[in-house]
Amino acid sequence: MLASILSLLGFMLATFALGSQAEEPDVAELYAPCAACHGVSAEGDLALRAPRLNHLRPVYILAQLDKFQRGLRGGADATPAAQQMAASTALLPPAERLPDLAIYISELESSVSESTLASGDAIAGGRTFMRLCGACHGANAGGNVALNAPRLAGADDWYLLDQLHAFREGQRGRHREDRTGRQMRNMAAMLDNEQALQDVIAYIRSQAE
Ligand code: HEC
Ligand code: HEC
Repeated sequence: MLASILSLLGFMLATFALGSQAEEPDVAELYAPCAACHGVSAEGDLALRAPRLNHLRPVYILAQLDKFQRGLRGGADATPAAQQMAASTALLPPAERLPDLAIYISELESSVSESTLASGDAIAGGRTFMRLCGACHGANAGGNVALNAPRLAGADDWYLLDQLHAFREGQRGRHREDRTGRQMRNMAAMLDNEQALQDVIAYIRSQAE
């Protein structure tokens, strides 16, 4: 008797699980609207200034999506690219599916995008990086989860430059509640000039993902 009740229960649970799976969109479907800008493998698209995403950890992807949704990033003072991403959060699934989406993105694969900057000196940039950046982003630019500092190795060079400019010019990291953004804004301000930006990016790009 008990055995047959248990097997009936097992059957019911199995069919319930199948039913609920059929109703929930697959995670690949959740990513489909993002692919229009970021590419099918989240490899990035320079023409749209939509960066590569698949080198990032899920925790950082989630943190940034939250900032875009809450207007901490991509608000009125931000760059047109950041405002476009803030508007694109309308395409996100409900909050409970966001972790799945972030993991899916981080597991996509593509190679590092082609270089678009020619004048950086990776050796000079490496010295600057060790002095000002490595403590948070790691000596090899691999990132540090405990400090909320993202992986930079593997990022598009044009995107790194865009973001350093945005931090320096107060278009990112300005919001009162954007604690980690403000931290990074102070660091970007310490780079002396355009050459120093390009040098530091040349160093980041010389590091394996
Ligand atoms: C209309 C084009 C567009 C669409 C659609 C779009 N994005 Fe973006 N996304 C961008 C742009 C442009 C940026 C760069 C913003 C900046 O420069 O600050 C960006 C930035 C991001 C970032 C920040 C990356 C980083 O290194 O900080 C994440 C994460 C992201 N997008 C995820 C998504 C997800 C998930 C979706 C699907 C719901 C999506 N995007 C849809 C254009 C788009
Ligand atoms: C005190 C720790 C700290 C230091 C030092 C630091 N960063 Fe950051 N950096 C962060 C954090 C935290 C973020 C994430 C900001 C956010 O949440 O919006 C970040 C973000 C960035 C981003 C944006 C990446 C992306 O995918 O959007 C770039 C580029 C960057 N840092 C470059 C640098 C460079 C270059 C230096 C050295 C001049 C540096 N950082 C020094 C903590 C730091």
